Amino acid sequence: MSKFPSDKPVLVTCGLPYANGKAHVGHLRTYVPADIFVRSLKKQGQEVTFVCGSDTHGTPVVVNAEQLNITPTELVQKYHKHFDETFKDMNIHFDAFGTTDDPENHNRTTEIVNKLIENGYTYPKTIEIAYCPKCDRSLPDRYVEGTCPYCGENARGDECDQGCEKHLEPGELKEPKCTICGGAAEYRKQEHFFFKLSEFKDFLLEYLEGMGGTLNARNYAIGWVKQELTDWCITRNLEWGVKFPGYDDLVVYVWVDAPIGYIAFTEEWANANNEDWEKFWKGDGRIIHFIGGDITYHHCVFWPAMLKGAGYSQPWAVVASGMVKIEDKTFSKSRGYVVWVGEDYLDHGFHPDLLRYYLISYTSHTKELNFSWKVFQEKINTELVAVFGNFLYRTLLFTHKNFGEIPPGEIDRDVLDNIESTIANVNAPMEEYEFKKAVDSAMALASYGNAYFQSNEPWKLIKEDKAACGKVVANCIQIAKALILLFEPVLPQKMEEAWAQIGMSDDVHAATYSDATVLVNSGTPLPMPVILFEKIEDDKTEDMAKIASKRVAGAIAKESGTKERSGKVKEMEEKTNIETKEDITFDDFSKIDIRIGTIVTAEPVKKSNKLMRLEVDIGEETPRQLVAGIKETHDPEQIIGRQVVVLANLKPAKLCGVESRGMVLAGDTDGAVLLMPEAEVAPGTRVR
Ligand code: MSP
Ligand code: ZN
Repeated sequence: MSKFPSDKPVLVTCGLPYANGKAHVGHLRTYVPADIFVRSLKKQGQEVTFVCGSDTHGTPVVVNAEQLNITPTELVQKYHKHFDETFKDMNIHFDAFGTTDDPENHNRTTEIVNKLIENGYTYPKTIEIAYCPKCDRSLPDRYVEGTCPYCGENARGDECDQGCEKHLEPGELKEPKCTICGGAAEYRKQEHFFFKLSEFKDFLLEYLEGMGGTLNARNYAIGWVKQELTDWCITRNLEWGVKFPGYDDLVVYVWVDAPIGYIAFTEEWANANNEDWEKFWKGDGRIIHFIGGDITYHHCVFWPAMLKGAGYSQPWAVVASGMVKIEDKTFSKSRGYVVWVGEDYLDHGFHPDLLRYYLISYTSHTKELNFSWKVFQEKINTELVAVFGNFLYRTLLFTHKNFGEIPPGEIDRDVLDNIESTIANVNAPMEEYEFKKAVDSAMALASYGNAYFQSNEPWKLIKEDKAACGKVVANCIQIAKALILLFEPVLPQKMEEAWAQIGMSDDVHAATYSDATVLVNSGTPLPMPVILFEKIEDDKTEDMAKIASKRVAGAIAKESGTKERSGKVKEMEEKTNIETKEDITFDDFSKIDIRIGTIVTAEPVKKSNKLMRLEVDIGEETPRQLVAGIKETHDPEQIIGRQVVVLANLKPAKLCGVESRGMVLAGDTDGAVLLMPEAEVAPGTRVR
C-alpha cells in the first residue's frame, strides 16, 4: 500500500545551514531533494509543511565572527539573509525559515532541557576541558584542534573532520592546540552537564528498527548504537548560545538547540497560520528529516533520545544523502574544491531549475555525487533539451502554426493509460526516496511523447486529414500536460512557463497529479511557444571549469602564503639545508628566459624510473619538448592542462635518449613540487 497521501499530516525539515558562510552545491543536496519531495507530496494531495532555519550558534559562528571583528549577531544576520535569498533563487520554498537565535527556539530549548533535568536524564560531572593559558580562556569545540584519539588524524574539538568522522567529547582530543593563538592548550578540570545517552540504548535499537527513510541512515545508526553509547556532554563555556538553565557562564552545546530549531520553526509556522505545532511533535503527524550523511549520528542517535527523554514524538523518517564531491575531489572550501551557488552558478546566468534537475537525476540519493560541469552539460543537453524540451516545443509550435488553439480530438485510451502508469512509476520510487528513479520514469513519458508524435507524422496528416491531425496534436498536448505536472516538483519555474504555454491559466503549483488525466480543453488558444531549454554550449562549461581551476590554484597559493605551516612543512624545513649563493646583477638575471607554459602532452619515459616527457606550450609556434623528473610523483593524465614555470633558454640536453629543450621548475625536495602560477595566464607569459 502506498504511504501517501495519508490523513496523517507530514512535516519535512532540512539540516539547518550554519549561518557562517555562503551556500554551496553541497548544501543543495539536502535542500533541493527535500523541496522536490515536498512538492511531489502536494501533487499527490498530501498535507505537508516544510520548515527550516539558520543554525546560528556554536563555535564555528563565534570563531568566524571573531576573525572578522564583528559580533556573532552581525555575522548570522548576514548569512541568514544570504541563505534565505539563495533558497528563494533556487525555487526552494519553506513555509517557515527562522533562526535558532529566535525567542521561540530559546524558549523551546530551555523547556526541553528543563524536562530532561526534571526527568533525571542529566547530571553534573567534573571533566577535563581544553584551556589556553596564553589567551586565558576555555576552548570548546572549534577553538581547539589536535589529534583524534581513535584514528590519529588531525581533528577538531568536537569532530574528527579529516579522519574517522567520529563525534568527539570534550577532553578526548590528544595534543590540544588553541586555534586562536596556535599555542599548546592544557586540560583543566571543570564542571559540565551530561545527558544520559547510555540509558537510551534499548529504546534506540527498537526505535531505529522502525524508523523510515534511507537505509544508510538507519543501518549506520544501528551499528553505532550496538557498539557503544557514552553519555553526552551538553554544555559549553561560551556566551553565545542558549543558556543552560541556572548557569550564566554555560550554554547548551549547539547540537542540543539546533535540532530543537525544527520544533521552534514549526511553532513559528503554526503561529503565523493559526495552526497546531503539536500535531507533529506531540501527536502522530509524520516528521521527515532531510540531511546529508555527515550528520546522521546527530539525527539518529542524539536527537531521538533527547525527544524521547523530554516526552516528544520522534522522527518518522530520516533521509540522508551521499556527500557531494567536486570534479572528483573531496569537498573542501580551503582547498578551493567548492562550487558556490551564487557566484559560480546563478550569477553566470544558469537557470536554477537546471541545477535542480542535475542534482536529483544524477545518481541515487544515498550515493556520493561528483559535481562535474561536463556531466551537467551532458545531462541538460541530452535529456532536458533533446527529449523533454524537444517534445514540448515541437508539439506546441506545430499546434500554434496549424491550429492556433487546442484542436478537438478524442484522447486515446493508450495515452491515458500511459499517463496513469507513469504517475504510479513516479510515486512509487518517490516514497522510497529513490528520486532519480522517479525522475527517470517521468522522462520516459517524454520519450513516449516524442515517439507518438514521430510515428503519427502529423506534418503529413495536416495535408491529408486535418481532423485526424488535430486528434494526434490533442493527444500530444494531453501528454504535455501530464509531463508538466510530473516535472513541476523538479522544475517549478520552467513548468510555470510551460503551463501557460499549453493555455492553462490556473496555478500549476496547486494542481495535482489527478489533473493530468483531466482532458485538455479544445478551443483553448495557444500562444507562440518559447523554447524552454536551450542547449548549453561547450565554451560555457569550459569557462566554468577554468574558473574552478583558478579557484584551486588561488587556494593553494593562499594556503601556502598565510596558513600556519603544518608540522609536515616544518619538518621538511628543518631538513633543507639552505646554502647561500653569490649575489648576481640584474643583468645576470635578465639573461634567464623564464616563462609560464601549459602542459599539452605528458608521457612517462619508458627507459627511466624518474623521467616524464612533456610538451609544453610556451607561446611559440609548436610546443616545447621537455623532460622532467616527475614520473614518480605525478600522474600524466592529471597534469595535462596544468600551467607550469619553464626555464626556456637552458642549453638543450639529452636525458635517457630524449631531448629536453629547457627545464620545468620545481621545488627541490623529496618529491618534485611543481611551481604553478596563481591564476591562469597566456602561455608564454614571462616571469620577472
Ligand atoms: N548546522 C548543521 C546542521 C544542524 S541540523 C539541526 C550543519 N550545517 S551545514 O551548513 O554544514 O550543512 C547544512 C546541510 O547541508 C546539512 O544537511 C549537511 O549535511 C549538508 N551538507 C553540507 N555540505 C555537504 C556536502 N559537501 N555534501 C552533501 N551534503 C552536505 O551541518
Ligand atoms: Zn578520527
